[in-house]
Amino acid sequence: MPRMLKNCSNFSDLRDLAKRRLPSPIFNYIDGAAEDEVTYRRNTLAFEDCDLVPNVLAGVEDIDMSVNVMGFKLDLPIFCSPTALQRLFHYEGERAVALAAEKYNTLFGVSSLGTVPLREIGELIDSPKMFQFYFHKDRALNDAMIDLAIEAKFDVLTLTVDTITGGNRERDLRTGFTTPPRLTPSSLFQFGIKPAWALNFLFREKFELSQLKDHVKQGSNIAISVGDYFSTMLDQTLDWGHAEDLKRKWNGKFCLKGIMSPLDARKAVDLGADAIMISNHGGRQLDGSRSPFDQLEEIVEEVGGEIDIVLDGGIQRGTHILKAMALGATACSGGRMYLFALAAAGRKGVEKALENIRTEVERDMKLMGLKSLKEINRSMLRFRHN
Ligand code: LAC
Repeated sequence: MPRMLKNCSNFSDLRDLAKRRLPSPIFNYIDGAAEDEVTYRRNTLAFEDCDLVPNVLAGVEDIDMSVNVMGFKLDLPIFCSPTALQRLFHYEGERAVALAAEKYNTLFGVSSLGTVPLREIGELIDSPKMFQFYFHKDRALNDAMIDLAIEAKFDVLTLTVDTITGGNRERDLRTGFTTPPRLTPSSLFQFGIKPAWALNFLFREKFELSQLKDHVKQGSNIAISVGDYFSTMLDQTLDWGHAEDLKRKWNGKFCLKGIMSPLDARKAVDLGADAIMISNHGGRQLDGSRSPFDQLEEIVEEVGGEIDIVLDGGIQRGTHILKAMALGATACSGGRMYLFALAAAGRKGVEKALENIRTEVERDMKLMGLKSLKEINRSMLRFRHN
């Protein structure tokens, strides 16, 4: 098990280091998923059902690993999906991820449950930013969040569509994980045995849910689990009509995160969305649902070329990205792929995660005989069982 960031060469090393640094309820909040976690495991295992077929003698000294997504040229084919509560994992929070994403010129998403004000992120970085939107029952809050994102000059609004109710996250039930953390004897013990984390949490800037704090008590002082938050605060009447209204209000680049069926992908095209993120919320919502990679081919068959298709979830290796792009993904994204790194070492950690994956993609492209990701196609992939 690596003890130092510089010895972390992959996702699993960074996860181990995060485990060492974080109180167990917080580590398990990131690492956990719904029920038996079948979908969570499958999200990564799905990549092992197929193999890459390289071409050689292609003159690959200089390669281009950039992609174009939603009108932005990213230097990496993977970006940082919006994820909640980052300041709980490391005191630098979203600032760390924003600066690392800017350094690698990739897209970065801030969650509605983010812990740094959008305005501050807007001033901090020039690279493209996405704001992830949860559709709350409180319409004033919804409008206020859109205004904040517009004022902060965010480039993309992403509506999450797979959290209509809270997933059954049994690890959180077991550990009693809430946000802000509730101080029970058992959680105090867990925090006490990770003193570096506890001191940073207690004595740095106070934890807040910056976009929510002026509207909901749950934003700052009521401890609630994320599952309960979804179930009680979000509006279960959310439908395609609401998505259309939201897109109109936003009047800019619009993305739907959590699309899993070709039928919904088609509706996203009809809505005029710029992109879909094929995602099952990291396996944290509906256990037993298909993995994004397993759904990719049929979604590409339905809407490929008509809308940008982002493969979100399960990615731990450069080859996973190449497999997704061979099937027709426009780009990839991930949450845990940088969150463990954030927890392990803040901004330096996220930079290490992105550097590891960048190095892998570069090496893998060369070994595949690819000078540019534009050259990758379906003929470079074989499934084993069909
Ligand atoms: C999650 C939400 C907050 O915990 O994205 O999955």
